[in-house]
Amino acid sequence: MIREIITYPNKRLFLRSKEVEEFDKKLAVLLDDMYETMIHKKGIGLAAIQVDVPLRALIINLPTPEGEQKKEDLLELINPQIVKTEGSIVYTEGCLSIPEYYEDVERANWVKVKYQDRDGNEKSLEAEGLLAVAIQHEIDHLDGHLFIEKLPYFKRKKFEKEWKKRVKR
Ligand code: CO
Repeated sequence: MIREIITYPNKRLFLRSKEVEEFDKKLAVLLDDMYETMIHKKGIGLAAIQVDVPLRALIINLPTPEGEQKKEDLLELINPQIVKTEGSIVYTEGCLSIPEYYEDVERANWVKVKYQDRDGNEKSLEAEGLLAVAIQHEIDHLDGHLFIEKLPYFKRKKFEKEWKKRVKR
């Protein structure tokens, strides 16, 4: 089922999401709904809080170099924790909760993440480039942070001004 995505400046986007403790049917339904919603909105990543569920769960589905978004590449990270980072990369980010706004953000270029899968099994993965960026962006959502918080002061001010105009329309 496609769920509604909450958008900035909804205060719930700034909540710290809670650890997932029950790896049950409800979690499976949430993850399936998140996938459907993300694909519907043409996103490459989504955190549970974006569909108004404050749980530490996120999904990422990057397209292949040919531009195909294959479900077999879908990543589901439950209770993820970044345990190591290296390097830095600047990437032009966007967010389904801040539609049609894109800006450069600097993050680590390589990360190691520990997480659980939908059945509660402990896993870890190493990622670099866009995947590393996406993981950091989505984990920020779980901690109640948005990428616009990383913008330099003048860009943030400009964003707020433009956003106010847009919301009024
Ligand atoms: Co986002």
